[in-house]
Amino acid sequence: MNRDEEKLLQEAGKVLPLAYAPYSNYRVAAAILTEDGKIFTGVNVENASYGLTICAERAAVFAAVSAGCRSFSHLVITADDEDNLPFPCGACRQVLREFSPDLKIIVAGKGKTFSMSLAELLPYSFQL
Ligand code: THU
Repeated sequence: MNRDEEKLLQEAGKVLPLAYAPYSNYRVAAAILTEDGKIFTGVNVENASYGLTICAERAAVFAAVSAGCRSFSHLVITADDEDNLPFPCGACRQVLREFSPDLKIIVAGKGKTFSMSLAELLPYSFQL
C-alpha cells in the first residue's frame, strides 16, 4: 500500500468501532479518497428489517456526495473479521461505478491486503 492507502486504512480503522452490526456481528468500515484529497469514512449500519442495512462503502460514498464530492481515486474497506474479507457486494459495486469507474479498491484484513480496480470487480457495467 502507498501512503494515501495507508492513511485511508488508518481512517477506516478509527471508525470501525462505530459500525452498527448487532445482527451479523460483522463490522465493516470504509474510507474513500476524493480526487482533490479529502477523505470520507463510513461504517455498516444494520437494521431489524435486514434489507434496510447499508454497507460501509456506500455510507462513505453517500457522505462524500452529500458534502459535494463526486470524484474518487481510492477506496479502502476493512472489517474486524480475520477470516472473511469485505469484498464489496454487487449493489456497492454499482453505486461506486456511478461516480468513479476507474476507482482503485483495497480490501484490507489483518495481514492480508488485496488491491483491485472497480473495472475488474464490475466488468461490462451499466451506466446511462
Ligand atoms: N458489508 C459491508 O458493509 N461491506 C461489505 O463490503 C460487505 C458487507 C456489511 C453488510 C452487513 O451489515 C454485514 O456486512 C454482513 O453482510
